[in-house]
Amino acid sequence: MFISFEGIDGCGKSTQARLLAEALLAEGRTVHLTREPGGSPGAEEIRRLLVEGRADRWSPETECLLFTAARRDHVERLIRPALAAGESVVTDRFADSTRVYQGAARADLAATVDALHALMIGVEPDRTFVLDMDPAEALARGTARGGSEDRFEGMGLPFQTRLREGFLALAAAHPARIRVIDATGTADAVAARIRAVL
Ligand code: TYD
Repeated sequence: MFISFEGIDGCGKSTQARLLAEALLAEGRTVHLTREPGGSPGAEEIRRLLVEGRADRWSPETECLLFTAARRDHVERLIRPALAAGESVVTDRFADSTRVYQGAARADLAATVDALHALMIGVEPDRTFVLDMDPAEALARGTARGGSEDRFEGMGLPFQTRLREGFLALAAAHPARIRVIDATGTADAVAARIRAVL
């Protein structure tokens, strides 16, 4: 199984990806817990270019190319070999993040994002969980966490609100693959909702 977690900044998907990977491991599966941008040594190097620095450091178009380059390396080095070996992959973000962040929220680049995906990536998760919550609450969580990886969080609440709308629209367009999960409450409560759907 190839499973991705998606959502706005601070929605708790990193915690949920980890909890699900741990639960699958405890059931005796071989599971790779990974993340984007990143997940392979080369892609982690590209990650630093993307998540640090000023909001206007890259144009939306350049950003698309960098995310796609990182994803291509991640797919080549980790995801494709793992799936070919019959192992499971749980990733904190994948191509839906590019569709929503670069394709819809930062700029209207949906056609470019789709073309790059078809040309360079081509794989989709078997299941995607969109963790949904109020953007103001999520932003407060994300900002409280601190750290230097705040380039997208620095784009503000209206941006996070557009992101939420983008994820919900994507889920509505792909009901078989994408499930929206209520991300409010304790981590254990959210994890139980995810397990029930899976
Ligand atoms: P992430 O590490 O998941 O941050 P967080 O834990 O705060 O959600 O992702 C880093 C940032 O990169 C995040 O703000 C979302 C953004 N991003 C895109 O804009 N496009 C993409 O394709 C991906 C994978 C991430």
